[in-house]
Amino acid sequence: MSGLLIRHAHLIDLSAGIDQIGDVRLEGERISELGTSLSVQGDRLLDADGLCLAPGLVDMHVHLRDPGLTHKEDIESGCEAAAAGGVTSVAAMPNTLPSADSPETIRYILEKASRAKARVLPVAAVTKGLAGKELTDFEALKQAGAVAFSDDGNPVATSYLMSETMKRAAKLQMPVLAHCEDRALTRDGLIHEGEISQKLGVPGVPAAAEDVGTAREIALSLSLGVPVHICHVSTAVSVDMIRAAKKMGAQVTAETCPHYFVLTHEKLLSRDADYRMSPPLRPEKDRRAILEGLRDGTIDAIATDHAPHTAEEKAVFEKAPNGVVGLETSLAAGITFLVENGIMSLPELLYRMSAIPAKILRVPCGALREGGRSDLVLFDPQKSWAVDPAHFHGKSRNSAMKGLQLRGCVQYTFCRGNLVYRR
Ligand code: NCD
Ligand code: ZN
Repeated sequence: MSGLLIRHAHLIDLSAGIDQIGDVRLEGERISELGTSLSVQGDRLLDADGLCLAPGLVDMHVHLRDPGLTHKEDIESGCEAAAAGGVTSVAAMPNTLPSADSPETIRYILEKASRAKARVLPVAAVTKGLAGKELTDFEALKQAGAVAFSDDGNPVATSYLMSETMKRAAKLQMPVLAHCEDRALTRDGLIHEGEISQKLGVPGVPAAAEDVGTAREIALSLSLGVPVHICHVSTAVSVDMIRAAKKMGAQVTAETCPHYFVLTHEKLLSRDADYRMSPPLRPEKDRRAILEGLRDGTIDAIATDHAPHTAEEKAVFEKAPNGVVGLETSLAAGITFLVENGIMSLPELLYRMSAIPAKILRVPCGALREGGRSDLVLFDPQKSWAVDPAHFHGKSRNSAMKGLQLRGCVQYTFCRGNLVYRR
């Protein structure tokens, strides 16, 4: 049988111990052969000299805004952005309209995603309407195809509800993705509470708002003996607590996002709402702690928290909703700020953007192996490019990376064996 033969690529997969020049044959949705100097069997050929070939990225924190908020993004456009970023699987957060709190909505997402350029892994709501009152039907949501539970955007307000959530999810072997924030501390805060919020005279969010949430989830996980995943870690104290929790044997995993290891709160001096997200950009000492957490493995995974909002919504600094897009810049941000700066190797970066999130979500992707999924990214690790949101494939332009010169450029993305992006 013939397929597509990708030749002379630098194959990278840390989990399989692959870091060498080689060829890969794709037949339909599977990698049929992997090796050196594979023979041409009537295949189409793609010469990948100078390019790296890795498992398609798995982004475990994405807001696709579909159903209901499709002026910001929809499943099709969000997956197009994913493909352009080398991302072949996205975990879609449930803060849509309606929220993903019912099997019907999970089925709607999966049905629409079956025609999209990336795989969508629906995350179901913990509470009905993300209202923090009544738990959803976890079993029915799992049955419908949800891969995880979260009230992201609306932290689960009470410790009791969160402990019930963790227990029930653990029974179903499903991860809980925790947005750690004590809203009683956030109040009307817009950006990190500190020097910059004072200078601007805008209400601040204390770092403790996040840290209190992180501490609660760790305490619950330890006392119940069940896993929890901490979303978008942004503070030094949370990194230290997660490190300590792991030492104590807690089943805690964590993700951070590129904006937290690339940018600091000084960016807010511009009063540009494209630098506002939740949790907010922090001071340099926190950014350094995030880097250290990534270096020593305290932070397991890198996700984007891709949170599209329109230019109109982002127009007024004080009124804009939180969130930044990230799908189209995450790989390059990682290469530029983690690999080039010696925080981690390229194979390690790719591992934390594919195999690790896949493992946390318990989905079978993120590996380069015969018989494995033909979800792949081919990128030029050297090529440098300037981030211009006007060229994005998603619907929204609210990037905090705008104007940055980044290294590492996605050239081709394959999902389910199909070419879904070509630069
Ligand atoms: C998220 C969004 O826009 O959905 N925004 C963000 O800044 N992370 C929701 C949230 O987690 O606050
Ligand atoms: Zn969140």
